[in-house]
Amino acid sequence: MKVIVTGGAGYIGSHTVVELVNAGYDVVLMDDLSNSSIDMLDKIGDVIGKKICFIKVDLSDSDACAKAFKTHVDAKAVIHFAAFKSVPESISKPNEYYRNNIGSLLNVTTSMEKYDMPYLVFSSSCTVYGDTKELPVKESTPMLPPNSPYGHTKQLGEHILKNLSSTLASKIKSIALRYFNPVGAHPSGMIGELPNGVPGNLMPFITQTAAGFRQQLSVFGDDYNTPDGTAVRDYIHVVDLASAHVKALDYMQSEKSKEKYQVFNVGTGNGSSVLEVIQSFERTSGEKLNYKIAPRREGDIAMIYADAKYTMETINWSAKYNLDDMTGSAWAWEKKLRGL
Ligand code: NAD
Ligand code: WQD
Repeated sequence: MKVIVTGGAGYIGSHTVVELVNAGYDVVLMDDLSNSSIDMLDKIGDVIGKKICFIKVDLSDSDACAKAFKTHVDAKAVIHFAAFKSVPESISKPNEYYRNNIGSLLNVTTSMEKYDMPYLVFSSSCTVYGDTKELPVKESTPMLPPNSPYGHTKQLGEHILKNLSSTLASKIKSIALRYFNPVGAHPSGMIGELPNGVPGNLMPFITQTAAGFRQQLSVFGDDYNTPDGTAVRDYIHVVDLASAHVKALDYMQSEKSKEKYQVFNVGTGNGSSVLEVIQSFERTSGEKLNYKIAPRREGDIAMIYADAKYTMETINWSAKYNLDDMTGSAWAWEKKLRGL
């Protein structure tokens, strides 16, 4: 079956393309390379042992999106990663985030309806839960008001797909995957996260500090109401996350799948504190990390982790990698990238 992967040159998309090809899917990658590099295509090709079909297209441009989809009308599914993803940037450029994240989604669903492509997997995020106190979060846990335009685009994306599915006119069956905190890299060390400029996320900041590109990691807050005072997240290995997309696609085509729209958490179900991540990194890398305790970062929540039971039971997915695998693979990728 042919699958269009939008944003497939990015961090999660590139790993998913590898898992899809390994599972026997035929992949077409569409990306405007606004947050990724053309080199990623060669690297994906090296990992899977063949060239991937690539179309450079800005999917927020409705004509360009329709034109790109028209060249692959035999595709049956779309995995839609293409979006902007920085929380702070979305606060400084909200219009850009609404235009790209919502505009691209609508252009994609419009083309899917036009060319009778039935299956869509949408990249959502645990950010849709906001600062919830119901832990672990279940898919049924209510969404709270978003704390950024980025978070709002993910809530809106889900609402759009849910509402589309409730109309008879729409033929699209969709799944929204709510990712928790994706980290780590492919075991080959060929593909991984390539943050632009100073990383905002914890894992790339840790690996860049250990590699000597940042002087010191600031641990944002040690006075949270958590076991060691630092904030807790559900880190998920990017290869496990990638395999959840394959399972979601397999499931949507099966007899078991009756609903036109479904939501699944993709996390391990385990919360790890910032200090636990640092300890894991030091253990797997053998490096001593230079860090200091700093004030809390504005907008951060104390704790969030998934209840992933529904995902495991329904789409037959579970995480295989633990925190040490995540920090170890992130470090292997950083070292290879920097030639260390
Ligand atoms: P990424 O930036 O590495 O990948 C996104 C890709 O989409 C990039 O290659 C970018 O060039 C492309 N893109 C953006 N706008 C486009 C457009 N208009 N047309 C074509 N291509 C476009 O991000 P990622 O970390 O791989 O995230 C993928 C998806 O998962 C995003 O939708 C993101 O919001 C979501 N998500 C990410 C995280 C995370 O922490 N990384 C967590 C939850 C959800
Ligand atoms: C993790 C923990 C920080 C950097 C973000 C988005 C979310 C989702 C995933 C897309 C927090 C702490 C971080 C540093 C630190 N993305 N930290 N020092 O904020 O949980 O989630 O990415 O959908 O929407 O908000 O991830 O990696 O930034 O932070 O102490 O230099 O590490 O305070 O507790 P976050 P993160």
